[in-house]
Amino acid sequence: MATLNIPRSRKDAEALDLDDPVQDARKAFALPEGVIYLDGHSLGPATHAALKRVQEAAGKEWANGLIRSWNDARWIDLPATVGSRLAGLLGAQPDEIIVCDSVSVNLFKLAAAAMKLAGTRTIIVEESEFPTDQYVAEGLAGISGATLKRVGEDKGIDALRRESAVLIKSVVNYRTARIADIAAHEDAAKAGGGVVVWDLSHAAGAIDLDLTASGAWMAAGCTYKFLNGGPGAPAYVFVRGDLAVKLESPISGWMGHARPFAFDAGYTPRLGVARFASGTPGILSLAALDGALAAFDGVDMRMAAAKAQRLGDMVVARAQTLGLEVISPVDAAQRGGHVSVRHAEGYAVVQALIARGVIADFRAPDAMRFGVSPLFVRYVDVWDAMDALGDVLASGVWDTTEFKKRAAVT
Ligand SMILES: Cc1ncc(COP(=O)(O)O)c(C=O)c1O
Repeated sequence: MATLNIPRSRKDAEALDLDDPVQDARKAFALPEGVIYLDGHSLGPATHAALKRVQEAAGKEWANGLIRSWNDARWIDLPATVGSRLAGLLGAQPDEIIVCDSVSVNLFKLAAAAMKLAGTRTIIVEESEFPTDQYVAEGLAGISGATLKRVGEDKGIDALRRESAVLIKSVVNYRTARIADIAAHEDAAKAGGGVVVWDLSHAAGAIDLDLTASGAWMAAGCTYKFLNGGPGAPAYVFVRGDLAVKLESPISGWMGHARPFAFDAGYTPRLGVARFASGTPGILSLAALDGALAAFDGVDMRMAAAKAQRLGDMVVARAQTLGLEVISPVDAAQRGGHVSVRHAEGYAVVQALIARGVIADFRAPDAMRFGVSPLFVRYVDVWDAMDALGDVLASGVWDTTEFKKRAAVT
């Protein structure tokens, strides 16, 4: 194993926290006492600003403003204004993002539009891709009569070179956290005459993204993970500025219409990425996200991403010392904001950790995931969490029917 640049004692970890250039960001979070939260890659914690903004949107704008708030509180513009706040985090232009729907729906819209743009009837998805991405690809192929090609992990890029196709691909894999090379995939897509639809769900807020420099054409992503937008927070669509007008959303809802309140009979899409909006936006969720994004104000994503790498290195090193197999890349440059570790009884181990106040998560069949959201996770948190993992494994406290009983959500 390469020598990792990690603290060797709790004191070292404390020193790193004192030196942490993004340490102030933690103050934005309303974290419960006594909990070490290593699950921000699944559901980011509440921020004070998000809670305040929801209260304001519900208690004032809705309760007092009523329907007037669509105009007075500019609710109608929120999908675009919140989208523009995401631009810096994605390395995009403010008018290239619209907040709407879920990732699943947005992937469907983009993949359908991409198929038409490229004139292809082939959709590619990797077997290791997040399930919803695979299901959307399958569903779209089913209703469009396109051919679905499932390829092995990281084989999408070769398939793109071979034929014109639409590839749906995560920038950071949900299980391994392996980072895909956006520019290399875009080059392959250009060579084969295809398009990549990127899923940024595990990437935004964890790695230093530059969609413009990487040459990305289109992407969707969620906001409830590293962006801390709240449970079920709306997703977003990114389309490179000059491409949006060439694309047709298959869900031509009125919010993507150029003049929704003209009540025209026919559909005229808006000019830019906003054509991918479909129906009425969920204002309370948008307000929460609007507030949550304030946590990133003044944060240099290069520094935040570097911190996530170093925190991840700590998990890698300690897990290896405990004799566990790390299924995430050991090389931090290839890894996003979480580390996955294999254990046959990983579910029960994670439940035993949660009972001790260390919240991580589990992905079937055997991956324990430890998220290292750089804005609020401290070096001492990872140090203590790994101590707890060592204790749980050494003592065998995980080995009970209670901890093995699977809940609906893992
Ligand atoms: C990579 C990835 N894509 C998509 C989703 C889910 O998308 P949604 O529920 O917003 O449709 C998740 C959820 O964890 C995910 O990890």
